[in-house]
Amino acid sequence: MALQSINPTETKTWAKLKVHFETIKDQHMKTWFAENPGRADEFTIQWDDFYVDFSKNRINSETMTLFKELAEELQLKDAISKYFEGDVINHTEGRAVLHTALRAPEDTNVLVDGENVMPEIYKAKTLIKNFSEAIINGTKKGYTNKAFTDIVNIGIGGSDLGPAMVVDSLAFYGNHLTPHFVSNVDGDHVNEVLKTLNPETTLFVIVSKTFTTQETLSNANTIREWFLNYATQDDVAKHFVAVSTNTAKVQAFGIEPSNIFPMWDWVGGRFSLWSAVGLSISLSVGYENFEALLEGAHKMDTHFKEEEFETNIPTVLAFLSIWYNNFFKAESEAVIPYTQYLNQFATYLQQAIMESNGKSIDRSGKQVDYQTGNLVWGEPGTNSQHAFFQLIHQGTKLIPADFIGFTKSLHGNKDHQDKLISNFFAQTEALLNGKTEAEVQTEGTSAEIVPFKVFEGNKPTNTIFIKQLTPESLGKLIAMYEHKIFVQGVVWNVFSYDQFGVELGKQLATKILDEINTGSVTNHDASTINLLRHYKKNS
Ligand code: F6P
Repeated sequence: MALQSINPTETKTWAKLKVHFETIKDQHMKTWFAENPGRADEFTIQWDDFYVDFSKNRINSETMTLFKELAEELQLKDAISKYFEGDVINHTEGRAVLHTALRAPEDTNVLVDGENVMPEIYKAKTLIKNFSEAIINGTKKGYTNKAFTDIVNIGIGGSDLGPAMVVDSLAFYGNHLTPHFVSNVDGDHVNEVLKTLNPETTLFVIVSKTFTTQETLSNANTIREWFLNYATQDDVAKHFVAVSTNTAKVQAFGIEPSNIFPMWDWVGGRFSLWSAVGLSISLSVGYENFEALLEGAHKMDTHFKEEEFETNIPTVLAFLSIWYNNFFKAESEAVIPYTQYLNQFATYLQQAIMESNGKSIDRSGKQVDYQTGNLVWGEPGTNSQHAFFQLIHQGTKLIPADFIGFTKSLHGNKDHQDKLISNFFAQTEALLNGKTEAEVQTEGTSAEIVPFKVFEGNKPTNTIFIKQLTPESLGKLIAMYEHKIFVQGVVWNVFSYDQFGVELGKQLATKILDEINTGSVTNHDASTINLLRHYKKNS
């Protein structure tokens, strides 16, 4: 097995962290800020165009020292080398995990089964480049010889969330092509999208690593049927392309071999936006910007691989998250981007984080007796301030939060940007300091109402402040979270790169669909039988 199996809770450092936790769990961060004027500098990492201030956390220097000791005891450095070098760290599926190779320079040597994968990666990049350019500049046309105006990505999970999030996040850099995403097997989704489209000028990109996913194939079939109402079978070749590892199934669907973009089993679905799965990104913002996204991710890869513990952004964020999850027993963490462009970021992270580390069996095959994967959620600020911030400020749950902001806006409206950033700073300050009873009293609040207006503060936040939202900085940001996931998986001693947890529901849905089609309901619990009957009567 490439990665060792070490129960983190049985390490010497974990025992020390438990003792340390008892000494600081009731202390208030604002006292530490008052006592130590150097605290903000001590706990800030400045790297490239990233300014990461993690000083508003329930930690002190000793916590950081112990985190580092834990990383050493769990041999994190060795795990990082194995991750980048293509060792079979996805042990349960017998695969390497090499999304980092997708953004590495061409002269890197990354071996899978003794063969360097870089030539294949760069061949695929050339295909993506040539194809995107031909669609964007109109040299490739539709069946009535018109240039394309719309592109539809048909996929689900990692074959949808990553590309959809990036396309949305980089809308500022978008060209004349209008992107659409169809994912849900709910026919209302595909029909809503279809009603806006002209078959003569729409390109369909079917993305499915396996090409067996029910949702994607159902949507692809529905769309092809719709297309054939207007065009002929021969025209399909001009309007449908696919990204998959399963070329046989793609060809059986009727897609020409020259319209198939490759995928590899050493790239996990939720980490695949850097491959041809990102074709809709390259089409929407141009290949140059897609390349810049990859370059940004590669810079973060190098940072993660080479930086020492104290200044290693993904590693520090991972340990902070473990601190709250396993010691403070926080149930979730929030990600709040202060840009509307990152509207889909938390949704994207939900798959990346929860499909990766939502595991309860350790690397020895035993049930864990400690908490693993975090629940992650969030919405852009300032909208979220008017939605769920009440609970973060005054609720009973501890919710550590990442605040992501940009020093420069894209449209350059200074008035709006200053207001946005004032809120960005104000929230983390309020979460840190809270408001005491005495402060509320001095505002002239009546004694009866005072308790309701007190904020205890001491709520942890990370401020991830980036120069500007560009393809490159977005690449860095996504890669930062990918590596945070990796570190957490190493510490929690789980296999982060399989996803068996999604299989059971899929199997049962196939069985139930068969029963709905044949009308013969078999062995189910009483609740499911009633639901099936209710559906039959009312559908
Ligand atoms: O949800 C399970 C899953 O296997 C994801 O990991 C993957 O991103 C998604 O389904 C889609 O799979 P495919 O690309 O093979 O259609």
